Amino acid sequence: MRYFFLAFTLIVILVVSFFGFRGQKFSSTPLRIFPDMDDQDRINTQEESSFFKDGMGSRKPVAGTIPRGFNPDGSGVSFGNSESYLHTGTIGDAYGTGMPEDLELAKNPEALLRHGEDRYQVSCMPCHGEAGNGKGMASVVGKIQTADLKNFPSEKYPDGKMFEVITKGKGLMSGYGYNIPVDDRWAIIAYVRALQTADKPTE
Ligand code: HEC
Repeated sequence: MRYFFLAFTLIVILVVSFFGFRGQKFSSTPLRIFPDMDDQDRINTQEESSFFKDGMGSRKPVAGTIPRGFNPDGSGVSFGNSESYLHTGTIGDAYGTGMPEDLELAKNPEALLRHGEDRYQVSCMPCHGEAGNGKGMASVVGKIQTADLKNFPSEKYPDGKMFEVITKGKGLMSGYGYNIPVDDRWAIIAYVRALQTADKPTE
């Protein structure tokens, strides 16, 4: 029993000395067993730097850099906090349907579909399959249950809603807003609509 108390006291002292002082502030250099990444060769935001001639730590972007979210031709933002139908898929509180008027690509329906097919095959086909039936490589190999896109016709699933799902994701599907530019998302939607009616008889 005496050993038990001794062991118990030792354990209590050990636990308290290991965990009891976490979060406390020390003025002297703490004992660091694992330095992790405490010391790094880096410059903090707005810090000076003697490395550069002008002494500024913050550098200007390399000439020709396109900030994320801006069009390469400098004509404006391609995504961001815009409230427009083009950027949100919604009109007021409701999902809209149909291609946005300000979508340049939509002026040439053939080019829109061709571009949509190309982008669909890159971004959606691995999961949803070439025909959009949800039997893409990921579902065959990974046994992931993906959605059959034929179950989401425009009557009950407006284009704006599909835009939102591509942008933000839903359930198991992650959002692709940061990977797929706005125009490409709409082109993909146009192509998905074509896929949905592709196997329906014309007469
Ligand atoms: C990594 C695999 C993956 C990729 C890539 C992917 N999806 Fe999905 N998608 C899923 C899964 C899984 C679901 C089922 C989500 C759930 O219900 O949990 C889904 C569901 C959907 C739905 C139905 C959402 C709903 O409201 O139930 C739509 C529409 C859709 N995807 C469209 C697309 C489009 C368009 C693309 C290409 C831009 C795409 N997906 C890319 C895996 C993927």
